[in-house]
Amino acid sequence: MIYSLLRPLLFKFDPEITHRMTLGTLKYAYKLKLFHDQSINCKHHNIMGLDFPNPVGLAAGLDKNGEHIRELAALGFGFIEIGTVTPRPQPGNLKPRLFRITQANAIINRLGFNNYGIDTVVQNIKNTNYHGILGINISKNFNTPLEKACDDYLECMRKIYSYASYIAINISSPNTPSLRKLQNTEELNLLLRSLKSEQSKLADIYGKYTPLVIKIAPDLELKQITSIATLLIKHKIDGVIATNSTLSRNKIEHFPNSTESGGLSGSPLTKLATNVIYQLNDVLQGSIPIIGVGGIMCASDAQEKIDAGASLIQIYTGLIYQGPQLVHDTVKTVCK
Ligand SMILES: Cc1cc2nc3c(=O)[nH]c(=O)nc-3n(C[C@H](O)[C@H](O)[C@H](O)COP(=O)(O)O)c2cc1C
Repeated sequence: MIYSLLRPLLFKFDPEITHRMTLGTLKYAYKLKLFHDQSINCKHHNIMGLDFPNPVGLAAGLDKNGEHIRELAALGFGFIEIGTVTPRPQPGNLKPRLFRITQANAIINRLGFNNYGIDTVVQNIKNTNYHGILGINISKNFNTPLEKACDDYLECMRKIYSYASYIAINISSPNTPSLRKLQNTEELNLLLRSLKSEQSKLADIYGKYTPLVIKIAPDLELKQITSIATLLIKHKIDGVIATNSTLSRNKIEHFPNSTESGGLSGSPLTKLATNVIYQLNDVLQGSIPIIGVGGIMCASDAQEKIDAGASLIQIYTGLIYQGPQLVHDTVKTVCK
């Protein structure tokens, strides 16, 4: 209710400024105890060996550096995914790089993994008093050649392994040139082999098993989805996130900003992402949990993802358009 009154004001500003302002305000409001933990527990969700208080999470990209974990969790999310973080800090693409398409309840972003780098993010995690489920989403630096991408993932993995509840491997951002090639069978096979071997070493060192999940794009043919799912089974990957934002511009061609380059998220992505879940589920058959994300703008969108085979779901653009009430409504619906 309050958010629907505030939204017209928030949407008057440049989207990146609004993003910073809103998160800053949320932080202080939480510190000053102007709002309290809205944690919503529902029936036991043990997935990947982790106990989720509820299955509705925050998707990667909103809190790239892990500066707002505590207050975002207080909105009622069952888990928080921070990042994408890369080994070295990087500024991302030139501004403007974030665009609202309000007529379509959508966003186009070409941020390009702007983040403070893995060392700062580790420090931020150490400084938070959050004890819930924390996913850390990692990827390669912009200027790391694709042949060396694996080294970047391994470096991040080593640094965050002991702090993460799970590690999300982002190979699907449309804003880092060629990154999506890592979804090709040959490249993915090699990458998954290295990641699993490192996971096993780190599990021995820390005496803790941290699940690995792979985040994929919505712009894949059925053949590619089948091949990815087969590799996930072969390498005993712990989970898959479907999906990242899309390069497609279907349904929004006539709206302002629709020709901006970058990844499209929100309503136009809903069905596309849900179809990927169906297709993954056809192969996985429940053997590997699917985290469904993409265009969840109301509780029934989330329920559709669960019905398609997702065990957990995540929200980003829906939160921008609908506010925190969406988290509550979604938890209530999917926990029924
Ligand atoms: C502004 C913005 C930044 C994003 N940054 C990241 C990111 O750094 N890493 C990532 O894996 N996904 C990122 N995403 C993708 C989201 O996590 C999510 O997969 C996608 O937006 C689809 O969900 P949605 O329609 O609920 O937003 C970003 C999305 C948006 C809108």
